[in-house]
Amino acid sequence: MEKIIETSALTYAYRAGSSKEVRALQNINMAVHKGEILAITGQNGSGKSTLARHFNGLLTPTSGRVLVNGLSTDDRNNIGEIRKKVGMVFQNPDNQLVSSIVEEDIAFGPENLGLPQSEIIERVDWALHILNLEELRKETPHNLSAGQKQQVAIAGVLAMKPECIILDEPTAHLDPRGRREVLESSLRLNREEGITLVLLTHFMNEVIHCSRMLIMDSGTVKVEGSPREVFLQGDEQIEKLKQMGLDYPVASRLAAGLNREGFNLPSDIIHHEEFIASLCQLTS
Ligand SMILES: Nc1ncnc2c1ncn2[C@@H]1O[C@H](COP(=O)(O)OP(=O)(O)OP(=O)(O)O)[C@@H](O)[C@H]1O
Ligand SMILES: [Mg+2]
Repeated sequence: MEKIIETSALTYAYRAGSSKEVRALQNINMAVHKGEILAITGQNGSGKSTLARHFNGLLTPTSGRVLVNGLSTDDRNNIGEIRKKVGMVFQNPDNQLVSSIVEEDIAFGPENLGLPQSEIIERVDWALHILNLEELRKETPHNLSAGQKQQVAIAGVLAMKPECIILDEPTAHLDPRGRREVLESSLRLNREEGITLVLLTHFMNEVIHCSRMLIMDSGTVKVEGSPREVFLQGDEQIEKLKQMGLDYPVASRLAAGLNREGFNLPSDIIHHEEFIASLCQLTS
């Protein structure tokens, strides 16, 4: 499997060497594979954002190494190339919008790449189209809902034509509808444009749509697997996730509850649709 990002023995400390040193990441060996959607979850302070900030060189390792398409983030000469490949979307859309008109905002990144005007226009049109934002192109960002703003922020990153987009809790500040829209747009970027996604999230109903997941705990990767593997029913596994502050997805919990009452539903249910389908089979 082709790796876009690879960390080896990645360790990171904030204020390294001082009396206020915070060891945020310890000996992390992981990779992001081309074309996948990787979820990274774990409780507050487990190190998700610190790890993600290594993926495009916003932070560089205290020790160990991070490679993006084979280029080390430690070498400042690589950073321009790396940032073209790996884009980043943060929690708060208000902090990411720089212009007073949506289309200008989306043009900001490509303009900084020094592209010809015709190419910039093409990319802005393309990003607006992919994210279904065409109607908002002349709007002022502060008139938009938080969910729409976040989609504009994603469009701005998309217009840089990255291979990989890192989304650091992009739905944390959104209402349920905004959350659904941003999740759906993100999944579409992967499905239709083949963009590799890394999604940092606390929401298990987002994790279940990803191809693979990591759970972080105290600066290390504690669990890795597909959501179906990770959320397989079993007392031991439930206890393990609980200790890391994680709940099972709703459908898994419902199925487990019924199975404890003597039903015989599959033990790897994670999606609502699967749960409903297996209930219907029982009753038919
Ligand atoms: N700028 C900073 N200076 C010092 N310590 C920091 C800084 N940013 C994060 N930390 C610490 O590093 C550790 C990892 O934090 P990080 O923000 O990566 O966790 P997280 O999993 O993203 O948390 P959250 O779910 O709250 O976003 C925590 O102990 C945190 O307090
Ligand atoms: Mg974070």
